[in-house]
Amino acid sequence: MIQKYVYGHPFPTDAVVKEIETAKEPLPFFETDNQGSFTYTLAEDDIVYGLGEQIRGINKRGWQYVSWNYDNPNHHEDTRSLYGSHNFIIVCGKVTFGAFFDYPGKMEFDIGYTRRDTMQIKAAKNDLTVYIITGENEKDIVKQFRGIIGRSYIPPLWAFGYGQSRWGYKNEADIREVAAKYKAAGIPLDSIYLDIDYMERYKDFTVDEERFPDLKGLAADMQAEGIHLVPIIDAGVKIEDGYSVYEEGVEKNYFCKNAEGGDFVGAVWPGRVHFPDFLQPEARDWFGKKYAVLTEQGIDGFWNDMNEPAIFYTEDRLADTCAEIEKLTAGNMGIDEYFAFTGMVAGLNGNIGDYDKFYHNVNGQMVKHSEVHNLYGMNMTRSANEALREICPDKRTLFFSRSSYVGAHRYGGIWQGDNKSWWSHILQSMQQLPALNMAGFLFTGSDTGGFGCDTTEDLMLRWLQYSLFTPLFRNHSADGTREQELYRFSNADAAGNMIRIRYSLVPYLYSEFLKAALRDEMMFRPLAFDFADDADAKQVDDQLLLGNELMIAPIYKQNAKGRYVYLPEEMMLVRMRSDEDYETEILPKGHHYVPAELNELVFFIRNQKAIPFAKAAKNTAETDWNTVRLLGYSGCSYEMYADNGTSPNPEDSLTVSVIEK
Ligand code: GLC
Repeated sequence: MIQKYVYGHPFPTDAVVKEIETAKEPLPFFETDNQGSFTYTLAEDDIVYGLGEQIRGINKRGWQYVSWNYDNPNHHEDTRSLYGSHNFIIVCGKVTFGAFFDYPGKMEFDIGYTRRDTMQIKAAKNDLTVYIITGENEKDIVKQFRGIIGRSYIPPLWAFGYGQSRWGYKNEADIREVAAKYKAAGIPLDSIYLDIDYMERYKDFTVDEERFPDLKGLAADMQAEGIHLVPIIDAGVKIEDGYSVYEEGVEKNYFCKNAEGGDFVGAVWPGRVHFPDFLQPEARDWFGKKYAVLTEQGIDGFWNDMNEPAIFYTEDRLADTCAEIEKLTAGNMGIDEYFAFTGMVAGLNGNIGDYDKFYHNVNGQMVKHSEVHNLYGMNMTRSANEALREICPDKRTLFFSRSSYVGAHRYGGIWQGDNKSWWSHILQSMQQLPALNMAGFLFTGSDTGGFGCDTTEDLMLRWLQYSLFTPLFRNHSADGTREQELYRFSNADAAGNMIRIRYSLVPYLYSEFLKAALRDEMMFRPLAFDFADDADAKQVDDQLLLGNELMIAPIYKQNAKGRYVYLPEEMMLVRMRSDEDYETEILPKGHHYVPAELNELVFFIRNQKAIPFAKAAKNTAETDWNTVRLLGYSGCSYEMYADNGTSPNPEDSLTVSVIEK
């Protein structure tokens, strides 16, 4: 059952797409002060799941989280906001229910932080819609919620292949070198990403003619090798006379405005930019149609970035800061002046006050950005998705975004934002997966190997052993960090084996993805979602169920030669060194220490289940689905969902077959 409660005058976020009548009975479970604050008393054993892309464990209890889409590549346990805001939780314990707080501005979730027994959720204003969902269990609550927010985006099949990315590929030769070296190393590859350097001075929808003189030719050559090029698109539009995107946007009033009615100026990669007003349908249509500049050159995938939007500085704050710094540095800089100085410089980037300084035009009304902040990235991806459906109506285009809100899951995937080459960020990514799935985000994954900082050979290998299970599987790193294309490492053979295992698993991963999307289910679940009466399963927050057949328990610790794993039922352990070199062993329910050498992938097949396993191919287009055989318990069958991987509507080519062992 879903009950809807409306407070004040909520902004229409488009998160919920189903009409639901406002409930007549009083709000259950929570006390509200009718000022935007909702309080729930937590029982000692209550668990709180959800919040999508957030830090800390699968059980969110014990910290305060803030929904405010924010660019924080250095996030750790102390962080409160990340790139996306997904205000859906499930309280599980004394009573079990789901709650979605549909509010697009800043929202705080104090989940046993101030007081261990109290959850207090607070919207910046009392203008929001609250949905309370009750059901048979957590999975049922998720299914009901997903039923009202609309079907999750389904990418083309090739997006399930392995992708190589780096902020640092400067020209066509760099891209060709990556493709050639992967080929020479015999490592499968489906995509290479083009980061900001393909553009002419960071201008969206331009291509630098010197560095990429023939993008169309390059894209065609890559396609011939089965490789798709995926360029980045940034939210900010460079202010530059003669640049048509800038000039059209100004002329048509498609950019966000400042309080005086002029176009708001922020700064990102190209320096001074305007931000498209993605809340205006006309501006969305206009910006989205620009993607054709690249599709005409053979591009069929995009990643949308910096769309929180990230703002390095605003001109006003920069001027004030410079004036203040001049004063501070005029005399002897003591402790107070020194900290004021460093604080002011650090405070230029992503300053929350800057988001009060610009406005969206919503049907002629000027709406302050900070009140609808979390919708910006979603509407950028919506702009691309809706336009591309017109531009390329016959096929699916790959999209994923950095910033998101509930509802964005209908338009594209998300990657989990900038991370670091830290062991803890493997775990962090894994812990977000079920919470993201709850909110509809199925096509997701982390920057494998870590984006910031220098990676290491062992970290990369262990990260691959985790990421090879995530729908989005991309190796990405930042300019200036250690290069991390797999062929560079002395253990490239082992890394290549992991990629080949991924390709053997694509039929299973794609099938389970389709099932999750078409049935409004989760692909990744905490153990307790399937083993509700198992007290030990409730404690596990570094293992996940994947689809209906697998359990994963990645290794995320430096120098670990294995790990403890909890099996909530008898399972088959699979130890793989390559797609052709593996052994299996049945382990009983209970706690086990499972050894796993660095070059060994370990995962588990659930009791009396089996998965389809194909012969590894050099890319997804060459996967021979006829080579699919079952791996797992004998005498079992698997229900396989498949389609042609490209048709805009998967139902048009969907096949459901039963594979018997
Ligand atoms: C942002 C993105 C990152 C990208 C970089 C340069 O930090 O999150 O993925 O490489 O910008 O475009």
